[in-house]
Amino acid sequence: MTPILQINDLKTHFFTKAGVLKAVDGVSLEIGAGEIVGLVGESGSGKSITGFSIIGLVDAPGRIVGGEILFKGQNLTNLSPQEMQQFRGNRVAMIFQDPMMTLNPVLRIETQMIEAIQAHDPSISRTDAHARSRDTLGLVGISSPEERMRAYPHQFSGGMRQRVSIAIAMLNKPDLIIADEPTTALDVTIQGQVIHEMQRLCRETKTALLWITHDLAVVAGIAERICVMYAGRIVEQGLNTKVISNPIHPYTRGLLGSVPAQNRRGEPLQQIEGMVPSLLNLPEGCAFQNRCSLLTERCSLTPPDVTKTDDGRLVRCFNVTQGDTA
Ligand SMILES: Nc1ncnc2c1ncn2[C@@H]1O[C@H](COP(=O)(O)OP(=O)(O)O)[C@@H](O)[C@H]1O
Ligand SMILES: [Mg+2]
Repeated sequence: MTPILQINDLKTHFFTKAGVLKAVDGVSLEIGAGEIVGLVGESGSGKSITGFSIIGLVDAPGRIVGGEILFKGQNLTNLSPQEMQQFRGNRVAMIFQDPMMTLNPVLRIETQMIEAIQAHDPSISRTDAHARSRDTLGLVGISSPEERMRAYPHQFSGGMRQRVSIAIAMLNKPDLIIADEPTTALDVTIQGQVIHEMQRLCRETKTALLWITHDLAVVAGIAERICVMYAGRIVEQGLNTKVISNPIHPYTRGLLGSVPAQNRRGEPLQQIEGMVPSLLNLPEGCAFQNRCSLLTERCSLTPPDVTKTDDGRLVRCFNVTQGDTA
């Protein structure tokens, strides 16, 4: 399967007064057509900046300083701002934690949706754009879409507003949607519904999805493949079933220990001790060393390279056991 998105050794750094902050520092990942990939890690690990880098929304003092982002083979890091704008919203759309990043508070939903369609293809008539908008609202679970289209964003609940922003992301049938913590601000029940619906929609429309969250339980429920990010790097990447049932990297194990599981009911949840190191001032060696239970002398000298395990997983740890490696 040729990947729709292939990121190779991406580096996005912020040139701050306090020094160079390496928010993304050598990220490689692939997303196949129609595939759902989860990008998970604690707050501040570089997930959003990875997403923003893909759609060209990194602002000064941040800049992509290395690597490539290939979309169907085309390197996006070479596009002009105009080309990037065209690309965004056509082939790739983004959904944010706060739907008001997408929605304009003073315009009716209908107006915003029709504009989004006509900006992409001016030859589509208002009537057709209206019909497509209504149908897409129906698809994301908004009842009486014909009536609801006349409303303003504030007339929707938080969950419904997020559904509207998902509908807008889907309007022009993108090949890839990047969803950055889209359910984090929602109630747990609503969160479950939105996740379930995104999964169904992406499967039906064969849209690839990069789902970004700090919550491993969420990606475990939606993603086919999981990338675990720590301090600007992906430390473990593999099939959902493998990563969740047999996590290899000590960080993934720590994240999993802090997720309530059916079969561990009654047991106390484990916290990962310590804090994410400052990305301004990373230690020599592995960035996880100050929190790691498997620490050896080697870990503080050089950062571990990627090891490929025999089940196809990519892990950045010196302590991947022989049995795990290919
Ligand atoms: N505009 C900015 N200027 C300086 N540093 C930034 C900026 N935006 C993000 N960062 C830093 O980049 C790192 C990664 O941020 P982010 O990708 O938002 O993390 P996540 O989404 O995983 O919580 C953080 O250390 C954050 O402070
Ligand atoms: Mg974020």
